[in-house]
Amino acid sequence: MSGRPDWPSVPVRLRPLAIGDVDAVHEWAQREDACRYQPWGPNTLEQTREFVRDAVHSWKSRPQHRFVYAVVADSRVVGTAELRLRGNDQGEIAYLVHPDYWGRGLATAAARQLLVAGFVGHSLHRIFATCDPRNNASRRVLEKIGMAYEGRMRETIRIRDGWRDSDLYAILCHEMTGGT
Ligand SMILES: CC(C)(COP(=O)(O)OP(=O)(O)OC[C@H]1O[C@@H](n2cnc3c(N)ncnc32)[C@H](O)[C@@H]1OP(=O)(O)O)[C@@H](O)C(=O)NCCC(=O)NCCS
Repeated sequence: MSGRPDWPSVPVRLRPLAIGDVDAVHEWAQREDACRYQPWGPNTLEQTREFVRDAVHSWKSRPQHRFVYAVVADSRVVGTAELRLRGNDQGEIAYLVHPDYWGRGLATAAARQLLVAGFVGHSLHRIFATCDPRNNASRRVLEKIGMAYEGRMRETIRIRDGWRDSDLYAILCHEMTGGT
């Protein structure tokens, strides 16, 4: 046995990302598979440091609009999860999990906690997320947390292989509290 824990039963916790998380974040930020549909990466160590510095700094901003969390499972930082306040009681979420831990429900658990943070902690009315139409895993996460598909925005982000579309998903506050 590898000693790997039974991941689906491991509680997932979010806590503010910290400067000391640079090495953990860089483990995935330097990987092609982690940033395939993203406008960043694969990162140099300095680029990862800059990301972590900005994320940590955002926790001190007043008013604070950006909340970047470390996703912690079995005492390890296995991803990041982010909530951004977009004004008009709207929020946007995003998440990333270390490729070695994909498919264990970690992103879904983290995304659910972001919804709670947004709806309960910040009294938001609507929370949305976007994903590359080819990013089936992310689409599944958004579906599993109860978001509805609202349409496709054309050529929103330029990534390494050209302009990519973004699929828009969202959930309203009453859908969260009235849902499963
Ligand atoms: C998207 C991402 C966060 C998912 O993380 P994860 O911890 O593996 O997600 P979960 O295990 O909670 O759920 C993944 C779901 O996608 C499904 N899935 C994974 N790969 C898939 C594929 N190629 N096609 C279809 N479904 C897929 C899984 O089966 C699972 O659904 P299920 O529970 O119905 O079986 C992860 O792939 C990642 O970090 N990708 C890089 C960053 C990224 O794309 N972030 C999202 C930006 S919008």
